[in-house]
Amino acid sequence: MSEGTEDGEDRPAVVTRGLGKSFGDVVAVRDLNLEIGRGVMYGLIGPNGSGKTTIIRILSGLLSASTGEAWLLGERVPARANRPRIGYMPQEMAIYTDLTVHENIDLFGEMYSIPAEERAEREDSLLAMIGLKERRDSLVSNLSGGMKHRVSLACALVHDPELVFLDEPTVGVDPELRKGFWDYFANLKARGKTVVLTTHYMDEAVRCDAVGMMRLGRMIAEGAPMELIESTESATLEDAFIAKAREESA
Ligand SMILES: Nc1ncnc2c1ncn2[C@@H]1O[C@H](COP(=O)(O)OP(=O)(O)O)[C@@H](O)[C@H]1O
Ligand SMILES: [Mg+2]
Repeated sequence: MSEGTEDGEDRPAVVTRGLGKSFGDVVAVRDLNLEIGRGVMYGLIGPNGSGKTTIIRILSGLLSASTGEAWLLGERVPARANRPRIGYMPQEMAIYTDLTVHENIDLFGEMYSIPAEERAEREDSLLAMIGLKERRDSLVSNLSGGMKHRVSLACALVHDPELVFLDEPTVGVDPELRKGFWDYFANLKARGKTVVLTTHYMDEAVRCDAVGMMRLGRMIAEGAPMELIESTESATLEDAFIAKAREESA
């Protein structure tokens, strides 16, 4: 793997080799070897505390790894040159509460130098996806927690990134809207974008092309959801997870 920043369309969206992170005595992630191709919808799934957020934060360049290496779109992490091509929605809220919904989305678009007309178009479709068209001019501080979370998702997508990391994008989102989210992710994928998301709702992760099952910082299984379900003779992805967890600790 080269360390250059040349694009190389042939390079996977995400590669990690022996990636690990410890916080004192806590090993949050150990020996992670990922390879996510372009145009793939990939889900990191697992219970709270299994290391999902730590992985996303390392890949996004917010946290340095204790061991191993990672590359995004062919560029070694922290992928500075590729930054405009990457989007990130953190699990914790990262938008301005003293601005309106529109001002937030527009600000993020401006930060990435998206022309005004394009920004407005994207904002329109994003507002429809997050179900907040009517709240466009509301101050974010006046929105519910779930609504703020949705605005944060729109902000992560406004520059139409090639690769996007979404940390628990559907938490606190009601079922009807959640379906809209997944349709939107499918649409990103259909346009060749790579979507890497985390979720602890295993029922919805079946919509991913591939999932990585995280448990106690370790990836215990990886593959297409249906393959994992069938190979463990399970009824659901959640059952498959339990079966894999048992295999691992046996
Ligand atoms: N900044 C931190 N300092 C200390 N421990 C942390 C920190 N961030 C995460 N951890 C620990 O690392 C483990 C994995 O956490 P996290 O990556 O947030 O998991 P998940 O996103 O799957 O819930 C947990 O045990 C958590 O307590
Ligand atoms: Mg998390």
